Amino acid sequence: MIIYFSGTGNSYSVAEKLAVALNDRAVPLIRLQEEPDAFDLTKETKIGIVFPVYFGDIPQPLEDYLKTAALNPSTYFYGVATCGGSFGVSLYHLREILKSRSCKLSYGRVCYMIANSTATWKKEVSYDYRKLDGEAKVVKETVQAVTDRKVDTSLMKPSLVGKIMASGFVKKLGMKRFAVSVDPDHCVGCGICVRICPAHNITVQNQKAVTGSHCAHCMACVHACPHGGMLVNGHKIKKENQYRHPEVEMKDLFLR
Ligand SMILES: Cc1cc2nc3c(=O)[nH]c(=O)nc-3n(C[C@H](O)[C@H](O)[C@H](O)COP(=O)(O)O)c2cc1C
Ligand code: SF4
Ligand code: SF4
Repeated sequence: MIIYFSGTGNSYSVAEKLAVALNDRAVPLIRLQEEPDAFDLTKETKIGIVFPVYFGDIPQPLEDYLKTAALNPSTYFYGVATCGGSFGVSLYHLREILKSRSCKLSYGRVCYMIANSTATWKKEVSYDYRKLDGEAKVVKETVQAVTDRKVDTSLMKPSLVGKIMASGFVKKLGMKRFAVSVDPDHCVGCGICVRICPAHNITVQNQKAVTGSHCAHCMACVHACPHGGMLVNGHKIKKENQYRHPEVEMKDLFLR
């Protein structure tokens, strides 16, 4: 099984490509959280974990899930962090979480892609899609490594910069800057954000989106809203700055 968390398709793309090549299945994290009885992770011989890096760390919902899920220490675990340029302590932290569950993260890779965070602070963004060229190589090498049950923990070391990025203070600041809210003047209640939110943190009430209290700051809603109804840090991002992995369709990311 490949567990993935994805807001704008980078991690989804990597997870799906791994699943095809390894003849495995990619499952969104929310499905495991909402249908725990439908999946028995302890029976899996190998589990891949594919996720976006947030503030040099792994997404909070993934951490919360792995800390309580029933896992089997004999499973071969591997992780792929997708990010814009700095993976911080994400793989180290993932290894530590699994260690606390008596499991081992045997192999960790980083896939440098396009940062979906740029549009939240920059007015003019021009995405350089060549940044996605390395994805195929990461997938190919990860497939080989998993097939060989390779052990490579070289990217699981905590760097000082990574530690600072993932510290409570920086995260807190970042979360404030990545706070999403609804612009009731533009929201038409179409429900796209409800379907795409990987944390199931949005509902539509009285034909307007309403955000809850467990946002993962993935920016899926902000990048997907066709009406400029979802704001980040109080600002709208331009339509032309909305990002989704070019090989991923909106419906691929729908979870409802
Ligand atoms: C809140 C937030 C924080 C981020 N922090 C980092 C970071 O620390 N380092 C980095 O390289 N990219 C960072 N990014 C960019 C994402 O990790 C990157 O675009 C990722 O591939 C998105 O994956 P997805 O398309 O599957 O959601 C951040 C993005 C968001 C929304
Ligand atoms: S996608 Fe946009 S318009 Fe549709 S419900 Fe969400 S915020 Fe409103
Ligand atoms: S509310 Fe928006 S930013 Fe927060 S988890 Fe859901 S889709 Fe992501």
